[in-house]
Amino acid sequence: MKIFIDTANVEEIKEAASWGIVDGVTTNPTLISREGRDFKEVVKEICSIVDGPISAEAVSEDAAGMVKEAEELSKIHKNIVVKIPMTAEGLKATKECTGKGIKTNVTLIFSANQALLAAKAGATYVSPFVGRLDDIGESGMQLVEDIVEIFKNYGVLKTEIIVASIRHPMHVIDAGIIGAHISTVPFGVLGKMIKHPLTDKGINAFLEDWKKVPKK
Ligand code: E4P
Repeated sequence: MKIFIDTANVEEIKEAASWGIVDGVTTNPTLISREGRDFKEVVKEICSIVDGPISAEAVSEDAAGMVKEAEELSKIHKNIVVKIPMTAEGLKATKECTGKGIKTNVTLIFSANQALLAAKAGATYVSPFVGRLDDIGESGMQLVEDIVEIFKNYGVLKTEIIVASIRHPMHVIDAGIIGAHISTVPFGVLGKMIKHPLTDKGINAFLEDWKKVPKK
């Protein structure tokens, strides 16, 4: 499974990239707003750190506006993927962007029907938001399972599934078991994925025992 990092913070991206585990980056307007910096500058810097798909979100609500933003954003770097919200206007924009060779990530997916329609419109990626569904007492992972099954049934190969709105390491394990292509993971969750108390305990025991080894 590919791992994207879900942040607009360049220090977090640099650190995670240094671990050799980052295949791409996703941002959204909320993540960008936390940085207090110019949107395009941040995105450009991210593209210089990670050589993989970098999602930057369009904020227009009409298709023409989204396509215009997509054209501008895609000029920043060849790896830019334009995030488009899942609406009828978003589907129109996705179709147009696909025709123009601009990669899209249809975002705010909360049902399998939305994912199916986005794929039909030509989306490069669809982003089901698992955590936000869990938050309202629905199963985010059931949604991912349904999308994976529907895409498999019809041989959908050109649209990849990005499991988004990840809250904890179990979400990543479940996404992998189900067979989603990508998990986009916040920096804090990546840190938790590294850690295991038995690893720490094992390291401490080895270091203590190493002290007992006679040194010349
Ligand atoms: C990524 O593409 C999404 O924008 C992000 O995962 C949303 O996460 P949240 O539900 O924690 O805001």
